[in-house]
Amino acid sequence: MRIGIAGKGGVGKTTIAATMARLAARAGAKVIAIDADSNPNLATALGLDRVMEQRPLPASLVSKRLDGPALTDAVDSVLTAHGTPGPDGVVMLTMGGPAHAGEGCLCSAHATVGAVLADLAGPDLVTVVDMEASPEQLSRGTVRNVDILLLVAEPYFRSLETVRRLAPLAMELSIARIGVIANKLRSETDADAVAEFCERHRLTQLARVPYDDAVTRADLAGSPLLDVAPDSQVVAAVGELVAQLRTADTPQG
Ligand SMILES: Nc1ncnc2c1ncn2[C@@H]1O[C@H](COP(=O)(O)OP(=O)(O)O)[C@@H](O)[C@H]1O
Ligand SMILES: [Mg+2]
Repeated sequence: MRIGIAGKGGVGKTTIAATMARLAARAGAKVIAIDADSNPNLATALGLDRVMEQRPLPASLVSKRLDGPALTDAVDSVLTAHGTPGPDGVVMLTMGGPAHAGEGCLCSAHATVGAVLADLAGPDLVTVVDMEASPEQLSRGTVRNVDILLLVAEPYFRSLETVRRLAPLAMELSIARIGVIANKLRSETDADAVAEFCERHRLTQLARVPYDDAVTRADLAGSPLLDVAPDSQVVAAVGELVAQLRTADTPQG
C-alpha cells in the first residue's frame, strides 16, 4: 500500500507521516518512508540523524522512456543502495531539494520519486510519502501511483481550501482513495467544522487527530513524537488510522 500525505504547509503532514510509518512497522509491515518535500525534514521526525536528509536519490536511477520515466535497476537494489534504515526498521528515502540558488526546476528529482513509487508495490509493503505543501506533486503526477492520498486539514478556512483544491487533482490522477485527516482539533466545534466541510465536498474523513502540546514539545526537541510522548492521543489516533488502512488493504477470504 502506497500512502501519500498532502496538505497546506504546517498542517502536520510530516508529524503524521513519521508516526504512521513507525507504527505500521511496529505492526509488522515492511515500511519505506519517502521524504518527497524539497525542503525535507522527515528524518528528524522519524528519529534519524538530520544528515540523512542530505542524501537525495540520484537522478541517474531513472531512464526516460516514451511511456514515462522508469527505474533502471530493481527497486530492492535502490532501497539497499540509497535507503537509510531508521527506528523500528523503517527505511527512509529522500527526494532532496535545490543545492544552489538559481538552479532551476526539480524535474528529475520528481521523476525519480515517481519511478521509485511506481515499483514499490507488494504485499505487506507500506510506503508513506511525506509530500510538499504545493499542488506540484499532483500536477506533475509524481504521486500518481499512490493507492491512497491522505489530505491533512486543520480546522481553519485556508487549510480546508487547500484540501478543496488538491482533491480534484488527485481524482484526475485516478488515485483510488482520497481521505481527509483532521488534525490539531481543540474542540468539538473544530471537529464539526472539518466534518461539515467533508460532507459538503463529498470527501471521506478517515481520522480525527487532537491538538496536543506534546507534539510541539517533541518538535522543539528535534525528537520523534513516538519517543517523547508515546502515550499522546495523537499517537493513538494515528495508530487507529494505520490499523484501519491496513485492514482495508488486506485481501478478504
Ligand atoms: N496534533 C498536533 N498537535 C499539536 N501540534 C501539532 C500537531 N500536529 C502537528 N503539530 C505541529 O505543527 C507544526 C507543523 O507540523 P509538521 O508536521 O511539520 O507539518 P507539515 O509537514 O504539514 O508542514 C509543528 O510545529 C508540529 O509540532
Ligand atoms: Mg513537512
